[in-house]
Amino acid sequence: MTVYLNGEFMPLEEAKIPVLDRGFIFGDGVYEVIPVYSRHAFRLPEHLARLETSLAAIRIDNPHSRAEWTALIARIIAANPWDDQGLYLQVTRGVAPREHLFPKGLVPTVFIMTNELVTPPRQVVDAGIPAMLLPDFRWLRCDIKAVSLLGNCMLRTLAADQGAAEAILVRDGFLTEGAATNIFVVRGGTVLTPPKSHLMLPGITYDVVLEILQANGIGHAVRPVTEAEVRAAEEIWCTSSGKEVLAVTTLDGRPVGAGKPGPMFHRVYPLYQEFKAKVMRAPAHA
Ligand SMILES: Cc1ncc(COP(=O)(O)O)c(C=O)c1O
Repeated sequence: MTVYLNGEFMPLEEAKIPVLDRGFIFGDGVYEVIPVYSRHAFRLPEHLARLETSLAAIRIDNPHSRAEWTALIARIIAANPWDDQGLYLQVTRGVAPREHLFPKGLVPTVFIMTNELVTPPRQVVDAGIPAMLLPDFRWLRCDIKAVSLLGNCMLRTLAADQGAAEAILVRDGFLTEGAATNIFVVRGGTVLTPPKSHLMLPGITYDVVLEILQANGIGHAVRPVTEAEVRAAEEIWCTSSGKEVLAVTTLDGRPVGAGKPGPMFHRVYPLYQEFKAKVMRAPAHA
């Protein structure tokens, strides 16, 4: 695997950072995960816009223009063997003596790697996944795509302890998101999802799914969703760049709806695949 670190392309094994990097010491940095289909970075401008928002929120000057990011990403995609890739990029504040206050004038650490993208196989899409409903005990700035994901990792592991593939999170009686996904539920034939706020990551896939619902006249509402509505949902879906759209078919060990992906999922999943296919047919990035 060829990766990028601070101006250079190199094999992963050669990429090294100093131990005083604030990403290592404090988790002081932000990241993006961008799916690449047939060597096309999916929704790249949207991912770069979210990166800009995350960087601004933690007061790191963006080390690259959009054109520079696009060129770096194109080089990493081209330098690696897979047509479909899960591209990961991270910016940390840089290296400094350990001190909580954000130091000024540091040179940010920029790292990009990529792996083969393995989207959920057909049998997982057909069966759906088990999830647990858990209290969202993370911080109150979940809109920032921060590398400090300890809360998310703990919640995902608590769910895994019970044999579940995702943790669906509720705070003060309302759905927020999944530990690594956004969540949609179907109630009375309408698709519901919470509005963007500081309590959830503004998912790129979440936006794509809303666009698909809108474009196809599928009844939906973006509004707060109660825990009771999640528990009584006819369908639950989780969405992310890696998982795409997956049905949750058991919640806390009980079937969601009929315990298999529901009719609305069967409508939306092919539309999502069609949307992706259009991207793959477009001309590749330079
Ligand atoms: C906490 C959380 N919410 C939502 C998402 C989905 O975001 P996206 O669709 O941009 O991948 C992710 C993705 O990793 C995530 O970590």
